[in-house]
Amino acid sequence: INRGSFPKGFVFGTASSAFQYEGAVKEDGRGPSVWDTFSHSFGKIIDFSNADVAVDQYHRFAEDIQLMKDMGMDAYRFSISWSRIYPNGNGAINQAGVDHYNKLINALIAAGIEPYVTIYHWDLPQALEDRYNGWLDPQIIKDYATFAETCFEKFGDRVKQWITFNEPHTFTIQGYDVGLQAPGRCSILLRLLCRAGNSATEPYIVAHNVLLSHGTVADIYKKKYKAKQGGSLGISFDVMWFEPSSNSTEDIEATQRAQDFQLGWFIEPLLFGDYPSSMKTRVGNRLPLFSKSEAALIKGSLDFVGINHYTTYYAKQNSSNIISNLLNDSLADSGATTLPFRGLKPIGDRANSIWLYIVPHGIRSLMNYIKNKYGNIPIFITENGMDDSNTFISIKDALKDEKRIKYHNDYLTNLLASIKEDGCNVKGYFVWSLLDNWEWAAGYTSRFGLFFVDYNDKLKRYPKDSVKWFKNFLTST
Ligand code: GCO
Repeated sequence: INRGSFPKGFVFGTASSAFQYEGAVKEDGRGPSVWDTFSHSFGKIIDFSNADVAVDQYHRFAEDIQLMKDMGMDAYRFSISWSRIYPNGNGAINQAGVDHYNKLINALIAAGIEPYVTIYHWDLPQALEDRYNGWLDPQIIKDYATFAETCFEKFGDRVKQWITFNEPHTFTIQGYDVGLQAPGRCSILLRLLCRAGNSATEPYIVAHNVLLSHGTVADIYKKKYKAKQGGSLGISFDVMWFEPSSNSTEDIEATQRAQDFQLGWFIEPLLFGDYPSSMKTRVGNRLPLFSKSEAALIKGSLDFVGINHYTTYYAKQNSSNIISNLLNDSLADSGATTLPFRGLKPIGDRANSIWLYIVPHGIRSLMNYIKNKYGNIPIFITENGMDDSNTFISIKDALKDEKRIKYHNDYLTNLLASIKEDGCNVKGYFVWSLLDNWEWAAGYTSRFGLFFVDYNDKLKRYPKDSVKWFKNFLTST
């Protein structure tokens, strides 16, 4: 397969996020975000690192754009740091922050690379966390809308593809239930020691405020900007594929509920105006309700869906609740356990990250699931990729990434089949990621890049073998 096998106009790109790439955290008036605070708190990041420098894309974007261009990439997905634009979360705009993204966007366009902009990729201004607990308070809706509208105003003449949020399910669960990500409302230790019931309320409140924020901003875009700027607006969800662990009715039903509590939780309000019925039944009065006008606001507020897809797990009926309770409350609420193993047998070969098992057919099944359940709404794969470990003999050795080449070849083959054979409406594919970068709680131990970054020598970028593979893929027809 190569680019020519895909429909005309299908978009290929790479994806990144501001906090994982930019560095320059104190430059040009940027205010701190919850991830600055979290990464500087002792013991939160596995290698005790932080993202103060990251891969320094703030200063090196010209060089990085050249790398994308040389490979033949059509698009670049990146996020805007809220606290560069509003160092205090709201109030006065920091012009230097606006200038930076103008330069980045202009350089991309000059190179023939289309910007796909994520408005929020987890780096909430610390000021808003301090002032009213950030996403836990509905005040956030107005501040997020102001930030998003500023992005439309300043950049929307050139940016035509907007992603309001990156992976709300991940930051809701990890930040407000498991505690492994900012703002770390519950520590993993505490939860192992003392949480043994499905008692979560905060994840559901956060998700609710995120959904209302999305709806508010989609409405603003539609009424004030869409006609003038002619862009599209969507959101990116983290979606694993789940397969029943056996063909028992219990496990098949549990698999559906696991998907309801992952994708359904977020997509159904935005398509239909309400949460999945399995969630309403199981979460009961801990699940906030949408008023009539809120339901009308969020319903149909998507031009496309972004799917960040990496892996597939088995799901089974959870009778004891022990494992799910240890993992997270929302999963426990679903009455399903999800695991990459059946007995001792893993579902696929593992990448470096402990959660990432390679199951290429999962992407095809997922595309079909979305088409059949949610209609044929346009989909972008806004992330797909795998990581290498940080232990290698030499740089030369670290550049040999046959496993990554196979990963992309196999996932793309399945994606293509979903389009050509099954009629799924997939419009583009973004690799996570162009460069090795700062992988949240895993710090610099996990390398997702097509390019290797030498953290010991001035952050030099070296192409892994997959760069040559992609270049060949993208330039042949
Ligand atoms: C996301 C992801 C990325 C990760 C990637 C690999 O939310 O978009 O968390 O930021 O780096 O998914 O884990």
